Amino acid sequence: MTVMTKPEQSKARAVVTAPGLSPETTPRPNLISVEQAKAMDVARITDLFKAHINPGQLHFMKLLGFHKIKIERAEGMFYIDQNGRKILDFFGGFGSLAFGHNHPRILEVRRRFQEEKRQEIAIAFMSQYAAALAHNIAACSPGDLDMVFLGSSGSEAMEAAVKLAERAAGPKRPKIVYAENSFHGKTKGVLTITDGQLYRGDFKLVDNTVRVPFGDIDAVERLFRADPEIGAIVLETIQGGGGIIQAPAEYWQKLRALCDQYGVLWVADEVQCGYGRSGRFYAFEHYGVVPDITALAKSLGAGKAAVGAMIAKRDVYMKAYGTPKTAMIHAQATFGGMGEACVTAIEGLNVLYDEGLIDNAADTGAYLLERLKAVQAKHPKIIKDVRGKGFMVGLEFHDFSQTLPMVLRPIVSVLDEKLKGSLSGFVGALLLRDYDVLVAFTEYNRNVIRLEPPLICQREHVDRFIDALDGLLSRGIIAIVKDFVKSQVK
Ligand SMILES: Cc1ncc(COP(=O)(O)O)c(C=O)c1O
Repeated sequence: MTVMTKPEQSKARAVVTAPGLSPETTPRPNLISVEQAKAMDVARITDLFKAHINPGQLHFMKLLGFHKIKIERAEGMFYIDQNGRKILDFFGGFGSLAFGHNHPRILEVRRRFQEEKRQEIAIAFMSQYAAALAHNIAACSPGDLDMVFLGSSGSEAMEAAVKLAERAAGPKRPKIVYAENSFHGKTKGVLTITDGQLYRGDFKLVDNTVRVPFGDIDAVERLFRADPEIGAIVLETIQGGGGIIQAPAEYWQKLRALCDQYGVLWVADEVQCGYGRSGRFYAFEHYGVVPDITALAKSLGAGKAAVGAMIAKRDVYMKAYGTPKTAMIHAQATFGGMGEACVTAIEGLNVLYDEGLIDNAADTGAYLLERLKAVQAKHPKIIKDVRGKGFMVGLEFHDFSQTLPMVLRPIVSVLDEKLKGSLSGFVGALLLRDYDVLVAFTEYNRNVIRLEPPLICQREHVDRFIDALDGLLSRGIIAIVKDFVKSQVK
């Protein structure tokens, strides 16, 4: 007897010839239709996820309770699941949802673009949409950050940034400085400057890089002075994956001065902290300095399209790609500047200013931080720190590996490595299960929950989030751990 594995089963069901076609026509494989996809239940989605996407990841979905949820719709600050439950989104796709879900102006501009049958691919003729989006991004960018490369992800934007820096710096200065705990993407080039052992794995990476502690300007100065081969330094302005880590204003001002003094190009990664999230369009604007190259993605696509952008000072760009001979070395790829993605991003930038969302991020973000500080004061044994700017906020719990009561240690010891000593997994899972609130975790610091709600978030949403968090923490650590463990055995 032949035993079929799950993937084979999911492929093998009827192979059909569509009605009206001759039997010789290439038969259609077992394809799921859009309507069937929409109607799938959680069990079927789980099977397909396991068979075709990422079986190992299901383990984490189960830990967090995500495996029981099917999202049917999403609107504004909320996801709506198969049971009509409204889940408050304080995760925001790690900063990808400035306008929340399905903003009506974004939907409308996309609908009209489709009805007018506009062109999409922008690699033959010049695109009026790509040109307008590049103009708008330059208009939002300070100084002479005027040249824009359009791609379809943050990683692609950062790849473009690093390649531009390398060419502009020239062959005698090939070395790139990056920071401890940095995250710049998972494609092979930027993986080299992403400081996570998990992601770097055993891949063979480019070796012309030097790592410095984040926020240590003396370390940067020492490096620049000692090594004339350094051509660029790449930094997130606020580290996201590192756990919402900021450097003081003096750091950035001195960095700018050092880069000018030593002729090093500064690349600011604003993929997560940019686009108004910090309360300024770019987070570096808080410090009155301008980098040589920067990058945006995530919210640039207004929650509906995949758009990334690298933005460079004109003279830097011209040095690298400014002649007909060099112009095509890194011109946009197939999906760079796609029509509907561009109009989505154009409308998004207009909405951002029309609705005052940058100021809302500053004001309501400050309110969120203030209320979190009050929760910290109430639960000082549980919360170690709250920090951030605008709607980029980190909530750090004390590591309780050593303080957990003896009776609970055997229970927790059977849980996943990632959860040991870490309250954030427990709190995140229970906020979702018991309070219908979604938060985000942090790559490099398991004790930090990241709060990156859409920039449309209002005080009432903050109040609801704070009530949920306070309610949960008031149960106390023992009850939280027990409740979490119970949710795992159900
Ligand atoms: C700071 C930063 N840079 C780059 C990236 C990569 O972006 P993407 O996931 O769109 O490739 C991310 C993604 O989280 C990010 O946070």
